[in-house]
Amino acid sequence: MDAALEADIRAQLEYNRERTGPPPDAVAVPPIPHDRYRDEALFALEQDRVWRRTWLFAAHESEIAEPGAYVTFERSGAPLVVVRGDDGVVRAFYNSCRHRGAPVVRDVCGTARRLTCQYHSWSYDLGGALKAVPDARSFVDLDQGALGLVPVRCETWEGWVFVNEDPDAPALVDFLGPLCDQMIEVDGPRLRRIGTQTHRVAANWKAMVDAFLEVYHIRTVHPDNAALLYDDATVSVAMLPNGHSRLTVGVKPEMLGIMDPSPAADNPSVGQLWRETSTSFGWFPNIVAALDTGAFPLLCMWPIDSRTTELELAWFAPDWGDGDMPEEHSVRMTLFETVMAQDTSNMAAIQRSVESRGARPFQIGWHERLIHHFHRAVDLTIGTDLVPADLAVSDALDGFVEEAGA
Ligand code: FES
Ligand SMILES: [Fe+2]
Repeated sequence: MDAALEADIRAQLEYNRERTGPPPDAVAVPPIPHDRYRDEALFALEQDRVWRRTWLFAAHESEIAEPGAYVTFERSGAPLVVVRGDDGVVRAFYNSCRHRGAPVVRDVCGTARRLTCQYHSWSYDLGGALKAVPDARSFVDLDQGALGLVPVRCETWEGWVFVNEDPDAPALVDFLGPLCDQMIEVDGPRLRRIGTQTHRVAANWKAMVDAFLEVYHIRTVHPDNAALLYDDATVSVAMLPNGHSRLTVGVKPEMLGIMDPSPAADNPSVGQLWRETSTSFGWFPNIVAALDTGAFPLLCMWPIDSRTTELELAWFAPDWGDGDMPEEHSVRMTLFETVMAQDTSNMAAIQRSVESRGARPFQIGWHERLIHHFHRAVDLTIGTDLVPADLAVSDALDGFVEEAGA
């Protein structure tokens, strides 16, 4: 991490640990309308204008390492396939045959030399070009050269593969902005995906994102794990452009080193600040990357409907070379399940509250301002002219977003 940024974060950790009132630059954070968590019209706007027009994490390059390796991805609402070509380039296409729309791959992942539709066996190469049409004699004027798979924007940063259904979206690196510099030390290309844990939760996806953008709750929700490890007063948060964010919380001095991985499981490129803290990055719209040395999860919140969310924990670890995965990665994944069970049971209860007649707007503290920042980015991505006035969050914190590169 940049030395000046690290010094700044350390200063904020120290300041926040010692302060006895709000910081002098703090403002009252406007409430979050509770109907944002249940309104069907807003959910439909999100489907159309957030999930189909934003860069979404789809895979890690380690999952599709060889030519022909593919994964399917349907989280944006459309069936997509992400595949590595013979030239090594990762591409995405709609998983829809140009004949009559059947999928060209049916497994969630696999390896193929050709993408061959199982309906009538039209076959495409790994670059999406149509290569074979059985009984072509029965088609009049079929222009095979114009009938390749329909491409979808697909770009990779440091091993992380993103897709975006919007052909006019900015480049991925421009969307990620300062995250690129601030996360570089995790050395993404050397990571391996080591597992996935999923939880189906009866809560709106935004309520779940909210829960991972603050540490205010750890004393009460996680008294027997996270609260033993972290000092929730020793925090630093940053509202980054495009709805992204950074959240750092200090490890209690007496607990320093207790969670350190063994040398065989460690990520040598991770610096000292990350080893003394928990530093996570919010990737707008739906991911909190709880980066760490050793194994760590991306917490991915995928909406199923307005009141149901799938929490996918996509786990990564630094490449350990040959042989079996270090056992301690499995141990960490199991421990984390306990923490997630505490969070998810809490979220379902919150959803029942916002569904009730007793629901009122949520009061947000200055230390929880990343939640407001996230909701504001949802509105900005939808278009503030389209968000109903009684559901919109205010622009009161816009001036606190750090400039790109800060
Ligand atoms: S729909 Fe694909 S070959 Fe007919
Ligand atoms: Fe939590």
